[in-house]
Amino acid sequence: MAGAVLLLPNLKPYLSIVHSKTAWDNGKSADTQNQVDFQFSGQSISVYARKVLGKELKKLYYPVAFTGKVAKAIEDAGHEVYATDLSPYWVSHLKGLGLRADMRSFEDIPSERFDAVLSFEPYPVTKNVVGYLGMLRILSTLTPYIQILSRPHCGIINPKWSHLTTPEPLEIREDRRYKNGTVGESHRAYPKLPDDMMRQAYDYGARFNWHIVYFDEHHFFDFKSVVPAPRSVRRSSLDLMLLEKQDDWASGPSVSIRMLAHSFAKSPEEIAASLLRLLEISRRYQLQNDTLYYCGGNAAKEDPSVIRKIKIVD
Ligand SMILES: C[S@@+](CC[C@H](N)C(=O)[O-])C[C@H]1O[C@@H](n2cnc3c(N)ncnc32)[C@H](O)[C@@H]1O
Repeated sequence: MAGAVLLLPNLKPYLSIVHSKTAWDNGKSADTQNQVDFQFSGQSISVYARKVLGKELKKLYYPVAFTGKVAKAIEDAGHEVYATDLSPYWVSHLKGLGLRADMRSFEDIPSERFDAVLSFEPYPVTKNVVGYLGMLRILSTLTPYIQILSRPHCGIINPKWSHLTTPEPLEIREDRRYKNGTVGESHRAYPKLPDDMMRQAYDYGARFNWHIVYFDEHHFFDFKSVVPAPRSVRRSSLDLMLLEKQDDWASGPSVSIRMLAHSFAKSPEEIAASLLRLLEISRRYQLQNDTLYYCGGNAAKEDPSVIRKIKIVD
């Protein structure tokens, strides 16, 4: 890999754009949680945790909480919830619901221990480096992450799922394999989009689950989770350290693998593997096209210093 050019998301200027531009600062934005008829079953969390994760979840960290309808339902079902959002407007609303709440961006995962991190449709972060960074921090602390998604069904329900009317039953999500144009056997679904933060967790070696848990009068509820494993912890911790400490090693025109290995007390093989993963990540987020997206646009257009270029030497 000597001679390769590594493009890195320069975290300070990138996150300063994200933090100043992506909060939803008033109550007017309409979305799933503030539809009048939207409801969520807080009990579904313990059913899911018991059956899929094999443990009870008492203390939950809940970022990107928005109106807090889901967070409050989970707390009312007997869990301890710490809810955060980037928006001061929604944080004060969350506190008004009686939740422990603070202003934090998704990637700013607290160091306090939680049984799991959980969020509902955190779309502002799922397909950009904010989500990737948060995911590295979640993986590196060995904490499971659950992402809940809802989809309207408009009353048309696949008969296969007609028994899923309470939070108790679970159905694993499957994809079909196609062979020569015909549908063949099924396999467990996995996150397909290369820029999805769940896909990064899956490729770092975490276990991925995807279930349809229940439906109500209006929506299906899909639960996806990633459960870190020792290999995903090792990989994510090293990549996170290189990203967080990039001001120390990536501000010049080139970097030597051996020098990096020496300064971070790692083997050259471990550093090379980490740089290869970061090269792949930069391709997935298309940094080579001078793009570094956030929910709102291309940060590289607003400030070209958000992308760092550095040549890798032996
Ligand atoms: C969760 S999304 C809404 C999506 C979902 N469909 C729903 O109805 O809940 C909206 C929330 O994301 C918050 N948000 C945007 N960018 C964020 C970030 N980087 N970190 C944390 N919260 C963020 C906004 O302030 C807003 O409250």
